[in-house]
Amino acid sequence: MKHFILTVLCMLLVTFRGGAEEQQIIRISTDKTDLILQVADNGRLYQTYLGEKLLHEADIKKLANGGASQQGWEVYSGSGNEDYFEPAVAITHNDGNSSTWLYYVSSSSHPVKGGMQTDIKMRDNRYPVDVVLHYVAYPKENVIKTWSEITHQEKKPVLLSRYASTMLYFSCPAYYLTEFSGDWAKEAQMSNQQLQFGKKIIDTKLGSRAAMHVSPFFLVGLGEPASEKEGDVLMGTLGWTGNFRFTFEVDNLGNLRIIPAINPYASSYKLEKNVPFVTPEFAFTLSKGTGEGSRNLHEWARNYQLKDGNSSRMTLLNNWENTYFDFDQEKLIGLMKEAKDLGVDMFLLDDGWFGNKYPRNNDQAGLGDWDENQAKLPDGIASLTKAADEIGVKFGLWIEPEMVNPKSELFEKHPEWVIHYPNREAYYFRNQLVLDLSNPEVQDYVYGVIDKLLKENPDIAYFKWDCNSPITNIYSMYLEENQGNLYIDHVRGLYRVLQRVQENYPDVPMMLCSGGGGRCDYEALKYFTEFWCSDNTDPVERIFIQWGFSHIFPAKAMCAHVTNWNRSASVKFRTDVASMCKLGFDLGLKDLTKDETAYCRLAVSNWKRLQSVILDGEQYRLVSPYEANHMAVNYVSKDQRKAVLFAYDIYPRYQEKLFSVKLQGLDPDKLYKVEEINLMPGTSSDLRANGKVFSGDYLMKVGLDALDCRQLHSRVIELTAQE
Ligand code: DGJ
Repeated sequence: MKHFILTVLCMLLVTFRGGAEEQQIIRISTDKTDLILQVADNGRLYQTYLGEKLLHEADIKKLANGGASQQGWEVYSGSGNEDYFEPAVAITHNDGNSSTWLYYVSSSSHPVKGGMQTDIKMRDNRYPVDVVLHYVAYPKENVIKTWSEITHQEKKPVLLSRYASTMLYFSCPAYYLTEFSGDWAKEAQMSNQQLQFGKKIIDTKLGSRAAMHVSPFFLVGLGEPASEKEGDVLMGTLGWTGNFRFTFEVDNLGNLRIIPAINPYASSYKLEKNVPFVTPEFAFTLSKGTGEGSRNLHEWARNYQLKDGNSSRMTLLNNWENTYFDFDQEKLIGLMKEAKDLGVDMFLLDDGWFGNKYPRNNDQAGLGDWDENQAKLPDGIASLTKAADEIGVKFGLWIEPEMVNPKSELFEKHPEWVIHYPNREAYYFRNQLVLDLSNPEVQDYVYGVIDKLLKENPDIAYFKWDCNSPITNIYSMYLEENQGNLYIDHVRGLYRVLQRVQENYPDVPMMLCSGGGGRCDYEALKYFTEFWCSDNTDPVERIFIQWGFSHIFPAKAMCAHVTNWNRSASVKFRTDVASMCKLGFDLGLKDLTKDETAYCRLAVSNWKRLQSVILDGEQYRLVSPYEANHMAVNYVSKDQRKAVLFAYDIYPRYQEKLFSVKLQGLDPDKLYKVEEINLMPGTSSDLRANGKVFSGDYLMKVGLDALDCRQLHSRVIELTAQE
């Protein structure tokens, strides 16, 4: 019945566009944004509008003529046409011709979860090449997701050298790009620049730990630099766990085209007849200010993109920074008891539990041999899950199944499964190499690692899936002469493995980790409940890293652990910084004083109590660490009855002028009680407003004196609407 209704609805939608004139205009809209495409007289498809939603249908028809005649606004411009700027698609055909001109064939729409999908078919008029452009518009969240599909029926394979996900155009007086770049332990650092004539490219060539130097997302201020509350801004992100490339090109007329794509670097792709080449999804939102844009993406992610986006998350204690590779059963059981004592939900066993012929006692050996190390764990993982159960915590496990150390039994048995040169010296990143996931046999092996662990230990409640190396020595024995396909087919192979894990073990949450935040994209996050933002857990650095990632990801997707990095910051400060995201710990309670342990317990219980506000509420970035010696963020529950304000004083100057923090997102007419929480035992709040009641209007216009001149000082303030 459901299927029947859906079919009828689709037919209606197609018929709606059935009139000769109407057929020429395709409107993709959310509640706030319109993307309007039009077929021009030459039969090709052009973008005529992308911006704030148009109120009058009649205006859309007027747009058409002007827009469609502007050269260079072709929606999926092919190489070798009259457009002199960067194309979306480039194909070398069997006869050596490298031009592709795409003509509109048809389009249709159908409802999908949360939105409306539009598919537009196009075809080259000289070669049997088809392109389908897909768009899903999510009205409520004001997000559009788009990707493309290329197929051909030429006799022999064609060579693809460009394969964009989409192409978007803007015409503004100026464009201001914000990128999120960095390195290991320095992820998502924001920097801005004005785009001038020519191209700015943001790309990565790292293959597997692809986002180590730059994250797959950006902001563009349209007309003026993007700010939190004002200005038109485009925020976009590509779902691809491999090499990506964003091209921003300002042309001779001052128009900007944005091309999100897989990076074609070393990837001229040999495409067989009738095999669709599906590009990654690019999701974007247009908003007034970056704050609104982030909230759009957060809500969209929780509703449709992030694994278990609407479920709760587990707090945890990890052993990595506490023990590194040096542990045994007894030590681990002791840590499980500490986890219980702290009040967290789970104990997470990190690297070092496997390998026998080549024991994993450091990072030089053992990757690939996923059997419990007999010296450390004579009774196996099973005894640990049992112990965890008895103690009353869940048990999670670290794996890095895509990797191999040359010192491993796996490498001895299957050197042909490993990406490396047959004729050159190997070079290593962290003493390891990457398994060749373009090879289905290797996909089976990697899936088998997880499958075996879960079959033998059904009580494993969580995986931390790590990926510490970029692809080095880029050569696949499996692909033979088709090496141009390796970077891409490797990532697709990874997705195949993840799909199988998801299908067979849908209820196992997983953390996406890549030596810190080297993987952070919305395709991977279909399979992972959260990602590890950075190995850098110095709370000062984390303030910047989390600020950066929060532009695109909800707090629910971002793991933050309290560790011993930067001991000059108090345990309270470190914990308060981690409490803004998905809270965890990676230290031993023996490192803490009695009061600090009591504080952590309190912070865990407060976090659990307020989890739904922090992880599911609306986030408002209030004070930027890039602009002040402070930082503040508040979260507001959907019903506006609860809010939490996090305020940090980083390194304020002596007697610096302080300003009040104006909250956002509250109901102006509700009265809120203000209470400082997360106080160290034996201390009380010196916040003047503590315990008092204010209207939402007051709190948003006058604000709270939540900032201070004390260095590395923090406050967590709970606001509760009064009946
Ligand atoms: C890198 C991760 O980011 C760390 O948290 C830890 O799991 C190590 N790998 C283990 O090798």
